[in-house]
This record gives sequence, C-alpha cells and structure tokens, in this order.
Amino acid sequence: MTTARVLRVDSERPDAEKIEAAAAVLRGGGTVAFPTETVYGVGADARSGAAVERIFAAKGRPPDNPLIVHVESPAAAQLVAADFTPLAHELAARWWPGPLTLVVAANPDLPRVTTGGLATVAVRVPAHPVALALLRVAGVPVAAPSANRSGRPSPTTAQHVLDDLAGQVDLVLDGGACRLGLESTVVDARGGVPVVLREGAVTREELGVPDDNGAATASAASPGTRYRHYQPRCEVVLVAAGSGVAHATDLAADGRKVGFVGFSHAPPPVTTIDVVRDADHLGERLYGALRDAESSGVDVVVIESVPEVGIGRAVMDRLRRAAGS
Ligand code: TXA
Ligand code: MG
Repeated sequence: MTTARVLRVDSERPDAEKIEAAAAVLRGGGTVAFPTETVYGVGADARSGAAVERIFAAKGRPPDNPLIVHVESPAAAQLVAADFTPLAHELAARWWPGPLTLVVAANPDLPRVTTGGLATVAVRVPAHPVALALLRVAGVPVAAPSANRSGRPSPTTAQHVLDDLAGQVDLVLDGGACRLGLESTVVDARGGVPVVLREGAVTREELGVPDDNGAATASAASPGTRYRHYQPRCEVVLVAAGSGVAHATDLAADGRKVGFVGFSHAPPPVTTIDVVRDADHLGERLYGALRDAESSGVDVVVIESVPEVGIGRAVMDRLRRAAGS
C-alpha cells in the first residue's frame, strides 16, 4: 500500500502554499482529508461524480449513504440547494460557520453519488480555519464524510485518518486534533421547525427542539444512521456511571484483557484508557478513546454512560452504536 502525502498545517493560520496544493488536488478530481471542528473529513469536488466515487471506494461506504457538502458561506450553500428555505436561512445565520448540517432540496445538477440518489442535499459551513481556507481557495463545493473506513470510529487526528485510509486518499492536511470530537448535528430544514436527523455537536436544547420531534422516523430520512458504525476492533460494553470499575474488574477476573473509560481510574489489571470529567469531555475524547482501546490490545473496553441531555444525547447515540446495541 502506498503512503498518503501528508502536509502539516498551522490550525489557526494555515500556510497558503499548502492550502493551494490541497485545493489543486480537489480541483483536479482528487481526494483530500482535512480537519474540521468536529472530526476529519475526506473530501472531493461535490459536482464531480467520478471524484466523489473515489471517496466511497476509499471508505468502503454503502452507495446509498449520501455525503455532507461543505461550502465556505451561506451564499455558496444556496448554489447546491434547489430551495434554501426561510428556516435554512435562519439556522445558517445563527450557526454557520459551525457544527450544524442542513438538509434541504438539492440542486438537481448535483451528481446522484453525492446525494445518494435523494432529492435532498446535506450542507454545512465548517468552523475550522484549515477547512474554510481550503474551501475558499478550491472554489468548489466539497463532499466530505468523516475520514474513517466505513463502520469504524470517526477520526479526530490526522493519524487516525492514516490508520484507516493511508494509500486510499491523495493528500492529508494535518491540522492537529479536532476541537469538538463529535460530528455535526444533521437537521431537516425543509419545514417550519428543524427536525433532528442525527444528534451531534449542536444540542436539541440549543436548537429549541428538546423533544423528539420526528426523530423516530428520522432513521429512514438520514440513511447513515441505519448502518453499523463507530465500532473499534474490540468489544465495547456500556454501563451505568459509577458501576464501571466493578464491571471492568469482574471481566478481568474472568481472564479477559479489559480497558476502562469513565469518571475515575480503574485499578490494575484493568487498563484505564481515559478518565473524563463530564459528557462534553467524553464527547471530545470518545473516538480517540475507542481507537486507543483497540491499539492497547484489550479484548473489551468498559465505558460509563452519561445522562441523555444536551451533548449527552449525541455521546450516548455514538456509544450505543459502538457497543452494537
Ligand atoms: O461533522 C460532520 O458532520 C463530519 C465533518 C467531516 O463535517 N461529517 C460527517 O459525515 O459526519 P458523515 O458522512 O460521516 O455523516 C453524514 C450523515 C450521514 O448519517 C448521512 O446519512 C447524513 O449525514 N446525510 C447526508 N446527506 C443527507 C440527506 N440528504 N438527507 C438526510 N441525511 C443525510
Ligand atoms: Mg461518519
């Protein structure tokens, strides 16, 4: 397998030459992995079916799972939409650049592979200087899913991207660790109120839709939520807060190699992978911790739950999928 070209960039003031090199790859129909404030994405020109196909091949992604189109501004978002609703304008003004993805009617000129054959498109303006510089200089809308192999934990560092996709992407921009560590919230913005299709970094409370306004049917509307996801190469066991050390110790007594992620240290022979303060901190650390657990060689990692309010909803959504429950 060939190694991907990696360019290290300053996350606050990215080097213009390196951004231009990455933009040239995108304009030429290639793929570039880049940091956003949520997770790393692997991008290609959203208007080119052939370029976007390369992303699906690199990830092993099911073809009916559409991609998020990343743009530099609300004005650029309108160009990939057929109908940018008043609600979409309102949410864009409030949240962009930021971790909110809006689903709106798609510009019919977008290739089928970008939209997964749907009549809608998901679009966002990321809040990361490297991503924004790349989008501005490339001058094309960039379709970009998370830069992991399909089914694996999302990548929050360039090393995670290389661990999954080295040799599968043309270029990796290394801008350090992602600040939020959880993906954007995906909302359907076609109606009068936002309908949450995927929980994420912007909370329901912040959106003013704390109740489950349609999420029960959202799994059909957001194809990605149907698939196996976020799973490391070790078993994940989700337990109540406060009971993790006891669970982990019991599993270790059965002769298994056990890792622990929770609100305290676990004594040997359990390997403490990460000690977290609260749901935000767990959200930030989650994908890195899942990957650290597998590379530490444990058979099973025990993770303590957080309450399902605020960011805790997104954290628990990811943890349940990681645990395959
Ligand atoms: O934070 C993020 O959103 C990251 C960064 C790179 O921007 N991207 C990301 O992309 O998480 P991905 O492909 O891993 O997840 C996109 C989600 C999937 O669940 C997909 O099914 C959903 O968005 N989606 C994309 N287009 C959609 C559409 N037209 N309607 C409903 N859901 C859509
Ligand atoms: Mg993903």
